[in-house]
Amino acid sequence: MKAKILKILKEADGYVSGQALCESLEVSRTAVWKVIRQLQEDGYDIEAVRNRGYRLADSGDVYTREELESQLHTEWLGKNLVFLDHVDSTNNRVKQLADQGAPEGTMVVAVEQSAGKGRRGRSWVSLEGTGVWMSFLLRPDFMPEHASALTLVAALSVIDGICQTTGIEGKIKWPNDIVIEGKKVCGILTEMSTEVESIHYIVVGIGINVEIKEFPEEIRQTATCLAFHVDKPVRRAKLVASVAESWEKYYRKFLQTLDMTLLKEEYNRFLVNLDRGVKVLSSADEYTGVSLGINDQGELLVKQEDGRIRTVMSGEVSVRGIYGYI
Ligand code: BTN
Repeated sequence: MKAKILKILKEADGYVSGQALCESLEVSRTAVWKVIRQLQEDGYDIEAVRNRGYRLADSGDVYTREELESQLHTEWLGKNLVFLDHVDSTNNRVKQLADQGAPEGTMVVAVEQSAGKGRRGRSWVSLEGTGVWMSFLLRPDFMPEHASALTLVAALSVIDGICQTTGIEGKIKWPNDIVIEGKKVCGILTEMSTEVESIHYIVVGIGINVEIKEFPEEIRQTATCLAFHVDKPVRRAKLVASVAESWEKYYRKFLQTLDMTLLKEEYNRFLVNLDRGVKVLSSADEYTGVSLGINDQGELLVKQEDGRIRTVMSGEVSVRGIYGYI
């Protein structure tokens, strides 16, 4: 009933009488009033005026399951939605659900993570109310070797989602960090359960810093959040929905070729290091060169000083600017 009342108020142009709400939901006035109170407690600014009814004013960043459902206009992603106030890690929760047979597109969104995971075994700071922490489940029938490009597809989706929600044009630091003015605002962690020739499932986890008052000392120089770059409150529900909708759009294209052929041009347009000097660090090797963008496989092409072009595969390789993170 909460979702229905919210929908009616959102779609109404002005006030909706208590009587009209009672009639369309076939409930009592007291029941309607109770739900209105709950919505107000969730953060919605609902005016109640005698003889006129209820009116939903522009509410800031309401982050609830109902709000997210009302924003989410996807075909399959997030249709099975798990919205949690608290979880250890949304990636872990999706994995548990996958093991229990959850369908493709299952999405877990949490207000807070107590053990958010980053890449390379790092942790990901995910305090209550400070960001978007979301993960979703894929059950593709392609071979495991195609999966590495999915983090690049996710990066494009986040760029698009952030732009739709805030107007900010982020950049991509290959393969999948999203940066604004040279600082990281989003990280993506893709995890896979495979057999030799098949994928059981893939979990794509996305963490976007929305409003973080103070970053831990060790990432203070390299991290940022959306709120630093816009005046208006960032609506997390809208952000999740936009990223999910963009994912469907880009993933559809990816599935046509099972690589980045149809997305390469757009991806390279957002690449922060394009035509700039980079330093490639792997456990075996370290070299510098100029980044030429990605190829169809999503590998980064780096031209060394001697003219040799090397392809960098994601994995245990780190690509930095010559003088620092970018
Ligand atoms: C990185 O190190 O850049 C990747 C960070 C990924 C963080 C997100 S937050 C939602 C999802 N759940 C996790 O535990 N990690 C990812």
